[in-house]
Amino acid sequence: MHWKLQLALLAIVINIVRSQNDTESVTDNTEAEPETESDVESGQFFSHLYKSNLRQMVKIKNDSLDPCDDFYAHACGNFDQALKEDPDESLPPYLYNKQDRMGFFTAQVANFQTLPGKLISQLYSECRQRGQSNAFCVNPPTHWESLLSEIPFLAQHETVLRDWPFLQHQWERRHLNGQLNWIALSAQLAAHGVPTLLNIYFAQETIYVAPLEDLPCPSMEDFQTSLSDVLEGRHHRVSHVISHEMRVLCRGMRGELPLARSLTRKDRTTTASPGQEQLLLDENTMDYFQHFFGSLNFSKEQLERARKFPLDVDKITTAWEVLRQTEPRIVYNYVLWQAKEHLRYPDCYRVSEEFERLLHAEYWQWHVLNSHLSREVALAAYQLHTTRFQQRRRSSLSQRDWYGYLLPASVEKKELQVARILQAHAQHYLNISELNETYSGVSFKRNSFHGNLLLLRRAQLRHSFESPYIDEEDVNQPAYFLRHFLHFVLLSLYRPTFHYYATQGLELWRQSRLLLDTDGSYTAMDCLERQSLQHFDAELAPIYRSLSFDEIKEIFHFHRSFQTSLRDYRFWLQGERFAFAETFVLQYFGLNPQRVLFYAVAQQLCNRQADIFAAQLNRGYMNMPEFQEAFKCGAAKPMNPSARCMINMCE
Ligand SMILES: *[C@@H]1O[C@H](CO)[C@@H](O)[C@H](O)[C@H]1NC(C)=O
Ligand SMILES: *[C@@H]1O[C@H](CO)[C@@H](O)[C@H](O)[C@H]1NC(C)=O
Ligand SMILES: *[C@@H]1O[C@H](CO)[C@@H](O)[C@H](O)[C@H]1NC(C)=O
Ligand SMILES: *[C@@H]1O[C@H](CO)[C@@H](O)[C@H](O)[C@H]1NC(C)=O
Ligand SMILES: *[C@@H]1O[C@H](CO)[C@@H](O)[C@H](O)[C@H]1NC(C)=O
Repeated sequence: MHWKLQLALLAIVINIVRSQNDTESVTDNTEAEPETESDVESGQFFSHLYKSNLRQMVKIKNDSLDPCDDFYAHACGNFDQALKEDPDESLPPYLYNKQDRMGFFTAQVANFQTLPGKLISQLYSECRQRGQSNAFCVNPPTHWESLLSEIPFLAQHETVLRDWPFLQHQWERRHLNGQLNWIALSAQLAAHGVPTLLNIYFAQETIYVAPLEDLPCPSMEDFQTSLSDVLEGRHHRVSHVISHEMRVLCRGMRGELPLARSLTRKDRTTTASPGQEQLLLDENTMDYFQHFFGSLNFSKEQLERARKFPLDVDKITTAWEVLRQTEPRIVYNYVLWQAKEHLRYPDCYRVSEEFERLLHAEYWQWHVLNSHLSREVALAAYQLHTTRFQQRRRSSLSQRDWYGYLLPASVEKKELQVARILQAHAQHYLNISELNETYSGVSFKRNSFHGNLLLLRRAQLRHSFESPYIDEEDVNQPAYFLRHFLHFVLLSLYRPTFHYYATQGLELWRQSRLLLDTDGSYTAMDCLERQSLQHFDAELAPIYRSLSFDEIKEIFHFHRSFQTSLRDYRFWLQGERFAFAETFVLQYFGLNPQRVLFYAVAQQLCNRQADIFAAQLNRGYMNMPEFQEAFKCGAAKPMNPSARCMINMCE
């Protein structure tokens, strides 16, 4: 496997080198050509991107500014100029990774082959087609009209709801109290993934009931603006009255109005015993749960067996007390207003983020990635990339053993087997048979984006009741690495390898907290302050300005993470016996492997709050021996302080 990987990478390099002589002549033709499965073609695909990245890097730096005076200024010196020349590349560099994932998704979404992937594919294309007129329907329906026709539990009341939102006299004249029920509406919406008054979510056989965080409550003006599409042609006072009613309601539910707060406190003293978080079910909440679980079609046994955790009961009680005292009409208006706003869904790419598990299940099957690289090669490459990280993590875990935190030996041994762990985790988490079963019941209607979105959310909610909770941000969980592995693969299709170390590799170290060291950070603080005192000069050495406590902590953390990431990159160069080729390629652009990572990291910060990042970057870099090695600054240069900080740490 290892051997295969080396061959693949070598093929890429050879292609890069071969095509160097015609760097300028082939500039942008390759991208337009469809990629084919042959190695040579995909090699060219890589090399084109590799070249354009390096060209961009060279263009952004300004060689008339000395890197040894102010590295940040040097590395970003031509940023504005480069943007002007190449507006197509005007993407802020720090968005590279996300942009690459979006690019890949939008290019491939039509080719998805698994059942979950096809659901996403249809949903995404319907999202894109919303509001476009077609042969059968010359006037595209408005947002509100499509909600009414696509969502079954709204369509049921379509005639009445055309006149939504309701004033008091309308509500009474048309006897809407009997027809429209805010509890049923809100519960139905929640069961379809649009919580409006209460947030109920699941982990394996567990039900959490929580208040809605950030209950939406915009200003009067914003309420009025957001209602303008449904109130067109009505008197402006209608909009004023309705907005005011909704605003009083939501402020009350958030406990911002004194009346509600005093009420609940009185309520509380008579009903809830302190220290025991019990959700008191009044008629409304009971009714709500019945509608909610009814819509999700959970069986009675499932519900009885499940553990139930109410969270932040006080807040729920306050909110529901307010609901009880509010006219049903107003609550109905507010619930539906939330749904309407929530379902505007301006950015269709969100489909891929919302249903990431389905997307990753599709990617993991490798249908759309096969033409670029095989899963085995990708896994081997990723394993190599995280090797030092895993070693470090393992050693810090076994250090914890000293304090009695004993891991089973088998777990520890597995630590380094990233590829094996990922495979094992994916077999469960992205189990395609399980997803097939769960989602085969979802039957989409054609051209019904909102209806289908809600169907898929309902299925996802049901599925979450059967799945263990997974924290994808936790670096001790395989889920974190599975997700990053897929990001890594997509990134490697679009960027040269050093980009990985400059972005995700660096992030991995920064977020893991493995490098935190309180003593080191205090030493650094003293030292950096002394450095500022000794060298600061507003004219000659502005980069030594004094730093705040938080900035110093950031610099310390950045310094250590960068160094580690740089070592990872060098380790990779050696591991692949790749250094020769890399050197050769970079040389052509006037760069070398010693320097390239310094540029790649710095240029992600170009044009973003320059005075903050310039300090972080320059002070971080100047204190690294690796920087001095790469740039060989003269003794009197600002980027070469006489005494360096943070270099004598025990590892
Ligand atoms: C590139 O072109 C030069 C002459 O212009 C030639 O000597 C060299 O061998 C070529 N390199 C490659 C890799 O084709
Ligand atoms: C590079 O920096 C120099 C010195 O600040 C400046 O005069 C020049 O305009 C810069 N070059 C570009 C292309 O912006
Ligand atoms: C609800 O679940 C039952 C079994 O639990 C099933 O027989 C029935 O078809 C389901 N109904 C819907 C609408 O999914
Ligand atoms: C999942 O469903 C798809 C399409 O319905 C089918 O081709 C595939 O074989 C199924 N996979 C598994 C593992 O059941
Ligand atoms: C995958 O799902 C199927 C069907 O739900 C199940 O039989 C199988 O044991 C699962 N495999 C793993 C590795 O979890």
